[in-house]
Amino acid sequence: MKTIDTLRSVLRFRPIEWDATARRLRGAASVEDLRRIAKRRLPRGVFDYIDGGAEDERSLAGNSSAFARRTFQPRVLRQVGVVDPSTTLLGQRLPFPLVLAPTGFTRIAHPDGELAVARAAGRVGLPYALSTLGTHSIEALAAVGAGPKWFQVYVWRDRGLVAELIARAKAADYAAIMVTVDTAVFGRRERDVRRGYELPPKIGLGTLVDGAVHPAWTWQFVRSDPIMFANVTGREVGDGSAAVSLAAYVNAQFDPDLSWDDVAWLREQWDGPIVLKGIQTVADAVLAAEHGIEAVALSNHGGRQLDDAPAPIDLVAPVAQAVGGRVEIICDGGVRRGSDIVKAVALGATACMAGRAYFYALGAAGEAGVDHVIELLDSGVRRTMALVGAGTVGELTPELVTPCD
Ligand code: GLV
Repeated sequence: MKTIDTLRSVLRFRPIEWDATARRLRGAASVEDLRRIAKRRLPRGVFDYIDGGAEDERSLAGNSSAFARRTFQPRVLRQVGVVDPSTTLLGQRLPFPLVLAPTGFTRIAHPDGELAVARAAGRVGLPYALSTLGTHSIEALAAVGAGPKWFQVYVWRDRGLVAELIARAKAADYAAIMVTVDTAVFGRRERDVRRGYELPPKIGLGTLVDGAVHPAWTWQFVRSDPIMFANVTGREVGDGSAAVSLAAYVNAQFDPDLSWDDVAWLREQWDGPIVLKGIQTVADAVLAAEHGIEAVALSNHGGRQLDDAPAPIDLVAPVAQAVGGRVEIICDGGVRRGSDIVKAVALGATACMAGRAYFYALGAAGEAGVDHVIELLDSGVRRTMALVGAGTVGELTPELVTPCD
């Protein structure tokens, strides 16, 4: 009798969740969980394109481990009953310090691709940067979601095309352009090299087998429109309708002679804020300030370009000290938790930027996955702020993070 009573008191069954996506997300407590689900659901080549980095992937690993090396020096008894993580970036109010990074070929994770990301970002008012190599167009993206849209610019050899893309972003009311400056040539992502990975994913024997063991992705892929570079559809530069290796495409089309002199030219095309993405030294952050740039994204392209590049979080404090508020700082790379965002802001960044975190989520569960990861990061920021004793982002100061050499 006693046993039955005890059993009755502890037996609890979770209500059955009938919706498969919601069921999948219920078990995803972290970005790493979403990564694992994406790995299971996506064909290997697709997952490796998203997950992989350049060469020995030391930049990739270093971006996250540099966050892990830093511990907090939390303050207590600080009245954190109300925590407000909102901030202002480029004159715009953000609910918490995050920008959703541009990612190329977003539709390979899910057919809704960039539209799903823009809708999820818009629901909470976070900025989202559409990639030049986006698989939905500037205009299609502008038509969805309320959050601020930024346009990421790769500078093509054909400057007329760049001017045209920027003019389209302006006409569609984008709030900022983000010019990527770490891609003079394409990084060697050896997972893609080994697989002979091309975009859009080609259907060969390997892909057929892979497709058969990832039926949900394959079914979506074959039923949706072909994946193309939607911003340059039908253009001479190639829109991805013929399979290309991204390395060959980028090396043929993007301008390795880009220099600081081009900043003035970009200014003539765009009268709003300019963000330089891919700044990796204090010296270049200072140059950005001297060129009147509004924000720098400290970034090594998620470890996808130069291997053995500095981890962005390690640059935040020295850059903040050197630029002294002249340029806003975005820390991009290795962001997997709200606590990472809190560390970056405490050290002097205005916000963080994350790409893989939502790319995994999109592969794991489509748009609901992106909502989920935004929620995980938001609640992680709030919880960490409370635990380190900061009620507002203004109270996030460098003393809250242990110095690290
Ligand atoms: C595209 O920008 C990529 O890094 O793959």
